[in-house]
Amino acid sequence: MTSYTLRKGAADKTKADVVVVGVVRTPKGLRAAAGGEGVASAYGRKFAPLLSTIGFTAKPGEVAKVPTGGTIKSPLLILVGLGDASGVDASAVRRAAGTAIRAVSNAASVALALPALDDQQVRAVVEGAMLGGYAFSSYRSGAASEGAGEVVILTDTARTKSAKAAVETARIVAEATALARDWVNTPPGDLTPEAFADAVVGAHKDRKATKVKVSVTDDAALRKGGYGGIIGVGQGSANPPRLVQLSYAPRGAKTHLALVGKGITFDSGGLSIKPSGSMTTMKSDMAGAAAVVAATFAIAELGLPVKVTTFAPMAENMVSGSSTRPGDVLTMYGGKTVEVLNTDAEGRLVLADALVLAQEGRPDLIIDVATLTGACETALGDRVAGIMGNDDALVLQTIAAGARAGELLWQLPIAEEMPVKVRTYSKVADLMQHNVDTYGGALYAAAFLQEFVGEHRWAHLDIAGPGFNGRGPYGHVPSGGTGHSVATLVELATELAG
Ligand code: BES
Ligand code: MN
Ligand code: ZN
Repeated sequence: MTSYTLRKGAADKTKADVVVVGVVRTPKGLRAAAGGEGVASAYGRKFAPLLSTIGFTAKPGEVAKVPTGGTIKSPLLILVGLGDASGVDASAVRRAAGTAIRAVSNAASVALALPALDDQQVRAVVEGAMLGGYAFSSYRSGAASEGAGEVVILTDTARTKSAKAAVETARIVAEATALARDWVNTPPGDLTPEAFADAVVGAHKDRKATKVKVSVTDDAALRKGGYGGIIGVGQGSANPPRLVQLSYAPRGAKTHLALVGKGITFDSGGLSIKPSGSMTTMKSDMAGAAAVVAATFAIAELGLPVKVTTFAPMAENMVSGSSTRPGDVLTMYGGKTVEVLNTDAEGRLVLADALVLAQEGRPDLIIDVATLTGACETALGDRVAGIMGNDDALVLQTIAAGARAGELLWQLPIAEEMPVKVRTYSKVADLMQHNVDTYGGALYAAAFLQEFVGEHRWAHLDIAGPGFNGRGPYGHVPSGGTGHSVATLVELATELAG
């Protein structure tokens, strides 16, 4: 276990196996960023030539290791790019801390001398280091590689109460994000709906302090309760579906937030089967459920005075003689009927049931998070989530929370023709599940979900792109499960509490 401590002191005089310093671009050339002044002055006039010798340009994501030969107290200096000096905000710091920590190998102690001038930046440094140092090694046969034993964050604010609180907030958010990542990374055969539900219950027990109530509805109860979407999607699998609900109802809560997350533990597409290449990452199709559950734990651990009720419908979308067929009509929880045209558009079906149930608690707002459409990833790439909703103020508030939390969200419209299509395209049922037209799949899916939120203020996060990183790590984001949206939801809840 790595310890994270704040300390006041100069980077050049700190004894650690590694010292990390940020570098920024200014109109007058490259400079050590705040926190690294001591190192820059220890090198004196040699600092700029050193950077140019190694070809350092200070762009975000850039990192270099420099043996110090005694110029400063630590034997190794890690330089990390922070981009333009004018753009150094908490997000840049968080990314740089993540990049730097991944460059550390074989060090017992690391001193981070990154910009940590206020509580926000302190939090960003700690969060970046914790998130960037994440590794999923449960399935490696060798000994798990241990990170640094001690990470010291150098800051002049080290002794203030608020800086210590910032470290605690960072820990809670980073641990929740790691929990979501672990679930996403777990092989789908080991994270069936039942196993996922058990894991949520288990994680809740581990966090004894949280004032969260958990309940699990099994497949028999779901059938009896009329959850046609969850049952319809899950019925082709040997692993039956579940619905997990969490509730956190602290005294003094003025706002009630309902969270809903897509929990498809594996998405083969069902009878509308996916090509094999598109199936390889479909263990991540429960990233939305992982995010809302983990965020709920974090909100409770922070003790935020916001009521949160959370719904995670879990099902495995598989192919068998009992699978739902294209042409079948499902009766969703609450009674609306849906004609299924493409069994690979399963997420909206399980979400529909959960959204109707979420409404029963009369929340002030509903946020759903889902790896919902390939179309959204096509539109925005794999680092930006799409966000749509029925309330622009809520959408903008959520985007702003994401920006502060280091997660990118971009609004897409629910264009007016989309609800019309959803309501009129089926010749047999109330609603048509799937867009028969080629384009606008993310918008259609959102319009479909909108049918199940009533008059509630609602926003929908499509994380098909950023929920899973199929490529190399960047900043504080590892390969594999990213935990996207956990930090955004916690940040939004923090604002709602304020
Ligand atoms: N889980 C997928 C969406 C997805 C795609 C997530 C790529 C992550 C990466 C979803 O269930 C799905 O299959 N959507 C279909 C919808 C279509 C059939 C309307 C899609 O996007 O192709
Ligand atoms: Mn699908
Ligand atoms: Zn899916």
